[in-house]
Amino acid sequence: MEDQYSRKINYLRLSLTQRCNFRCLYCHAGRNGCSAPHELSLSEIAVIARAASELDCTAIRLTGGEPLVRSDILDICETVHVIADTRKLGITTNGFFLGRLAGSLYDAGVTHVNVSLDTADEAVFEKITGMDGYKTVLKGIEKAVETGFKRVKINAVLLNGVNDSEEAVRKLTELTERFPVDLRFIELMPFGLSGSDYLKSFVSKELVFRALPDLEKIPDYGEGPAVMYRRPGSMGNIGIISPMTSCFCKSCNRIRILSDGRVRPCLLCSREFSIRGLDVKDTVNVLRRAIVSKPASYRDGSDSLRINCEMKRIGG
Ligand code: 5AD
Ligand code: SF4
Repeated sequence: MEDQYSRKINYLRLSLTQRCNFRCLYCHAGRNGCSAPHELSLSEIAVIARAASELDCTAIRLTGGEPLVRSDILDICETVHVIADTRKLGITTNGFFLGRLAGSLYDAGVTHVNVSLDTADEAVFEKITGMDGYKTVLKGIEKAVETGFKRVKINAVLLNGVNDSEEAVRKLTELTERFPVDLRFIELMPFGLSGSDYLKSFVSKELVFRALPDLEKIPDYGEGPAVMYRRPGSMGNIGIISPMTSCFCKSCNRIRILSDGRVRPCLLCSREFSIRGLDVKDTVNVLRRAIVSKPASYRDGSDSLRINCEMKRIGG
């Protein structure tokens, strides 16, 4: 359906859990132990999938936390696939369990996989994620590529003084030379870090352009907020997602449901709606209200940018 600003809202991001087996520096997931507070159950997710279908949603992405830590993840994917029957069913994962699960996720109806990977250096990987898992994640990416998902995307967040040397960016970019994967650099957003840590850690997209001077812009790639570039001789492309130095609110097509079942009309505004315990009809009504209440932009609303609200609830 359309919102008040004539944007077609047809993409639902559904966070399945706040839990995660990683402890990324820029995210709070998993830091408060591994309990599963208020996670949506499979039957609640089925109601949401039905509501999404009634609202003509064409894409659903399952996020977290780490969605693959849910023991019922394959049932969830299959349920959403069968009920919502969207053209795209994506999942965003840290990749650690992907080697094991890629084939089953594909069979359960997942079409698109995004993997978070910020570095091609094992020690830096451990510093960022708190896990000795670089090789496992790399194998997960390879497996996903072999499995035949439509396009495997890698999300990388650059952090000042951690993984932001031009050489580190070029080394990570080698992935797109070896595999047909799209590597997207996402500017750090103010979640999970205190205001001063955020400012200290932020790296602008300009660093990527300095490291990769041979990027050629691909017009109309249709990748949501990412501006996409090709590099001569590479199988995969490079994307830049710059929520902090650009504004893509005009083309926003998203609505989010957080891991505790709250609906969030805008990633960076704090307004939320509750759908817990509602039947399909009422869920559709609340989602409609939430869509209508989407602000034109997080930049010009009365709601100021919330520093330190948690990415693990929102799921990116
Ligand atoms: N800023 C920007 N991106 C983030 N992600 C997680 N936390 C942040 C943050 N504070 C990214 C992860 C994941 C995607 C959904 O969001 O890399 O791939
Ligand atoms: Fe886990 Fe992703 Fe948060 Fe890292 S960014 S701790 S992988 S949810």
